[in-house]
Amino acid sequence: MPARALRAVRAYPILGAVLAQLVAGVIVICMRLALIGVLDSRVLFWTSLGVQCAGAALVTRLLGLPVWWVWISLFFPAAMALALQAGKLPAWPFGIAFLVLYLVFSNTARERVPLYLSNSRTTEALLSLMQQRGATRFVDLGSGLGGVVRRLDGDGRFARGVESAPMVWLVSVLLSKLTRRGRILRQDIWVADVSGEEIVYVFLSPEPMPALYDKARREMKAGSLLVSNSFAVPDVEADEIWELPDRRKTRLFLYEMKGKTA
Ligand SMILES: C[S@@+](CC[C@H](N)C(=O)[O-])C[C@H]1O[C@@H](n2cnc3c(N)ncnc32)[C@H](O)[C@@H]1O
Repeated sequence: MPARALRAVRAYPILGAVLAQLVAGVIVICMRLALIGVLDSRVLFWTSLGVQCAGAALVTRLLGLPVWWVWISLFFPAAMALALQAGKLPAWPFGIAFLVLYLVFSNTARERVPLYLSNSRTTEALLSLMQQRGATRFVDLGSGLGGVVRRLDGDGRFARGVESAPMVWLVSVLLSKLTRRGRILRQDIWVADVSGEEIVYVFLSPEPMPALYDKARREMKAGSLLVSNSFAVPDVEADEIWELPDRRKTRLFLYEMKGKTA
């Protein structure tokens, strides 16, 4: 595949996923033409479905897309086939399921940042980082369900979260209000004010890291810290890397800000 096309596929993984289904579809058509009359129609149906699923997953993998796209490619044809076989189902559960998925995962397609949460080891490491530095102001950009914010807020520390996925934001606001810990704003991370923060924490994906580092350098004050869970800023050496003793060996990349730059 030409390098330009490959770059486009990696920038817009949905293109790769569609391509994978098309390639697998062509293989299935050829296979069915060759096997018609040889296999019983039921066996032929299940064999075709298996080849479609496995073929699409393999092509997605060969295109170098992230692993969750491989899972999507694998299960999508099976889900479609089962839905079509299920006969006359009402449409509203699918509509509601789609709406809920959109309200929870809206940033996955837009920013390529899915929802996964920091574990308790990470939250404890952040707490100890704040204590070591005597820091009192913390923001989690893309705060998910707000667990980090609620854990760090209190005892003289002020923790905020910024979240734009509607359902995730709503749940985290309710939890914050119930526990009276932390403050969650419904805001895009790109317009969030980070100028007064001592620690800015992110757990996003490789995609936004270069732009995020530029924002931090432009807006954060000297001596403050940008901490990224798992994803380093490309071509920038971290001032410190903390490897945590959890199962996934979480790495926190710490970047100390030198003062606002133009
Ligand atoms: C991987 S989760 C991390 C959640 C939380 N920080 C934690 O560590 O538990 C990333 C979160 O960032 C949010 N997010 C992604 N892009 C965003 C944006 N541009 N503005 C606000 N939130 C965003 C997603 O909706 C998701 O909830």
